[in-house]
Amino acid sequence: MANRRILSGMRATNPRLHLGNYEGALRNWVEMQNDGFDMFCMVADWHGLTTMYEDSAEISRNAREVAKDYIAAGIDPEKSALFIQSHVKEHAELHLLFSMITPLGWLERTPTYKEKQQDLGTTEREPYGLLGYPVLQTADILLYKPYGVPVGRDQAPHLEIGNDIAARFNRLYGVEVFQPYKYLIPEDENRAKVPGLDADENGVLRKMSKSYDNCIYLSATPDEIAEHIKKAFTTPTKLRKTDPGVPEGCAVCQYLKLYSPDWQRQWDEDRAGERGCMQSKKELTEILVEFLRPFRERRAQFDDGSIEEILAKGAEKAREVASATMSEVRAAMGIY
Ligand code: TYM
Repeated sequence: MANRRILSGMRATNPRLHLGNYEGALRNWVEMQNDGFDMFCMVADWHGLTTMYEDSAEISRNAREVAKDYIAAGIDPEKSALFIQSHVKEHAELHLLFSMITPLGWLERTPTYKEKQQDLGTTEREPYGLLGYPVLQTADILLYKPYGVPVGRDQAPHLEIGNDIAARFNRLYGVEVFQPYKYLIPEDENRAKVPGLDADENGVLRKMSKSYDNCIYLSATPDEIAEHIKKAFTTPTKLRKTDPGVPEGCAVCQYLKLYSPDWQRQWDEDRAGERGCMQSKKELTEILVEFLRPFRERRAQFDDGSIEEILAKGAEKAREVASATMSEVRAAMGIY
């Protein structure tokens, strides 16, 4: 039978997932689940420690909330395995073994590493785990020997290192333990990299990210949605309704393109100075409140007890697959 297994994950650095997480990855997870793929939906708590090692207990609390957001978005725990990375210790063992065969140069060249390094400013406070971040991610993936990994555009460099590590492992130990997996990134660039509500100092939209505080959260209440959209970045030179807008550079217009069936007309009117930003914001708010309604309703059904049960069952299912892979890995390396 063809390989129908899928693995993906999200960091537990925040208790709430946002529209970028949904459009870039989670939407695909739900679709693939409903198409009969065998889904492994992980919450990466250990990865969260690379930046939040001082708030380790908070990460554990966040992890439960992230799992609730998976379910809110449509992941069905009866069909898909939901689990927390640290509950499946095989991830740590494979990470360690991969760390021995991964050339340092591959990791130092990773763009996400360079960005984080710049944020930190000094290597004095830079944890060793930050450099090894893609190695742990590779272990997460390869333990499940997936057909593919559905993620947003920003994860592409990590996925590439993963396939390189897999090939290197096979070559070094002379056994085809791992097959290359596919990068399942949305074709629509607006979904692969969803812009945030704000713009950078040059007036250019940047990606939606918890660290920029420019998000619409999946669990947001109608009031929160309205409030966030009210503050969203629009064409800075469009002060009156009759001033022409530039929808390509306007956060509100970008979301209309994603969520409004009528976006083409709305864009034309914006450009022609036939509609004001307030009207666009109002219409977008209404659309998003409706879009996120089922998310809020499903989320409300889950209490903490039922989440723990779901995560325990998910970890058990994950462990079965992960431990079989580890047996193959140890045998290939002659470790016994
Ligand atoms: P993380 O937690 O940063 O993001 C989770 C997922 O959401 C996607 N994403 C976006 N997609 C589109 N537009 C955006 N603005 C946006 N922001 C975030 C990300 O691409 C990702 O798919 N390293 C991973 C977590 C991880 C993982 C794994 C992923 C750990 N192990 C194994 C896949 C497989 C991360 O930090 O994602």
